[in-house]
Amino acid sequence: MLWQGETGRGVELSELQLEDLPAGLQLRLWREGLLADEPPHCGRLIPCRSPRVLLLPARPALWVPRPLERTAGGFPYQALALEPEELALWCAFNDSRTLEAVARLVGVSTDRALAFVRRLAALEVQALQLRGRPPRPGDPGLARLQAPPRPRGHAATDLRGAHGETRLSGWHGDIDDAATHFDRGETTVAHAFAQPHPALGGETFGARLFGALRARFGPCQGTLVEVGPGSGELGAAWRGAAEGELPRLHLRLDASPALLGLQASRQPGTHALRADACAPPLRDGSVDLIVCNEVIADLCAVPWDGCAPVSGTPQHAVAIRAARYGLAPTPGERLYNLGAWRLVEAVARLLAPGGAAYISEFGGLEEEPTETSQLDHPEVSIHFGELAAVARALGLQAEVAPMAALLGFDPGARWLSRGSFEALRCLEPGLQARAWTPASITLPEPVEGLRWVPVTQDGPGPVVTRFWCLLLRRP
Ligand SMILES: C[S@@+](CC[C@H](N)C(=O)[O-])C[C@H]1O[C@@H](n2cnc3c(N)ncnc32)[C@H](O)[C@@H]1O
Repeated sequence: MLWQGETGRGVELSELQLEDLPAGLQLRLWREGLLADEPPHCGRLIPCRSPRVLLLPARPALWVPRPLERTAGGFPYQALALEPEELALWCAFNDSRTLEAVARLVGVSTDRALAFVRRLAALEVQALQLRGRPPRPGDPGLARLQAPPRPRGHAATDLRGAHGETRLSGWHGDIDDAATHFDRGETTVAHAFAQPHPALGGETFGARLFGALRARFGPCQGTLVEVGPGSGELGAAWRGAAEGELPRLHLRLDASPALLGLQASRQPGTHALRADACAPPLRDGSVDLIVCNEVIADLCAVPWDGCAPVSGTPQHAVAIRAARYGLAPTPGERLYNLGAWRLVEAVARLLAPGGAAYISEFGGLEEEPTETSQLDHPEVSIHFGELAAVARALGLQAEVAPMAALLGFDPGARWLSRGSFEALRCLEPGLQARAWTPASITLPEPVEGLRWVPVTQDGPGPVVTRFWCLLLRRP
């Protein structure tokens, strides 16, 4: 990488490019001041603040990332103490004034302002860039950090079977941090929106889901099976909303003893069933409603190239089902959601006549399954078109809908941006991964610079528009 320490701008280059710089790249490097013989005339450039940086006015200090010390969990942060005139300079940087204009406004020399800028623009800080032009609103280049690649999480390599298939049931069975699990790594939409939120008209995710499914399928007063209830908050909110028409039997099926324990404390009156979601030990036709929220990306996904597989392998199990359900293999190797297909088979077996199911996960209608890279365990997105085809072949009525539309998420409602959330969590390590708003968050000290973005952009939880749901009914 070429790094311009005066301006806080860098360009990554491959070895090949270094040997023989293409003309377009030369121009870009020259514009960034990386090829010029003279240092850039910084006074005429515009100081642009990184949206990752927060101001802690009571200290006063800047709360800045440490890009070069990146960990699997993200960037650590540090406090940079500010002299009074540095605080005034920081507050005067507005992404449009030149450095000279800022210095004049604050009443310091341009050299003094430049010394402060150099400290902030350094490779190990990257709190500020000097640019020739004002940035576009929301310019992603301002938040991007030049940093080593994110190290992989500790467990990432042990979670595959002999044939390359993902295998997470042991990982879930071993969860030992139930109380904080969904805050530290596997945050779900239901967890982020477990508190009443303006995006859901002041309701919680669980209450909204109850209302949406009741409107579509009618009340469930028989047997409800919640598959993979996680922290139990979704089910608790569901039961709160369903008061007066609770199901006669509410089973919580989960692979994790620790999570089953936590769920029990939040959902009195329900029953635990430790089992594999793909092979529930329940009678055929015995269930009226199945709710399975953000579980199926955890189930086995299998790489397959469409060629005749060896009998007994997961690829063989995919090939048999593809033929049975009329799913044509895609040319070349790709992932298949075998575990999700098996879950739909289990749903088809369990549902009583008139029974219904809701299965939600991230993915797309015709999207090839892809593995996430940001988690410490392999989750795989869902091809909902294929999942619906499996359900229909099994005699179920199937509809695929965007989850945000089904639950009536307001796409304009705001939450804390992912960058601000990560910065705040370094300030207060116990901060939960909730869909924070200015009204719901309590801060440990005054903080300026937090960014509030629509719930369709990255926040403390996953982006709601990435999720789809499969609505099933046994005729
Ligand atoms: C990502 S969490 C979702 C939790 C919750 N439904 C929510 O939306 O917040 C996945 C849940 O499914 C459970 N789970 C994952 N794989 C499972 C399997 N093969 N059998 C049973 N439960 C499983 C996990 O233990 C966990 O409770």
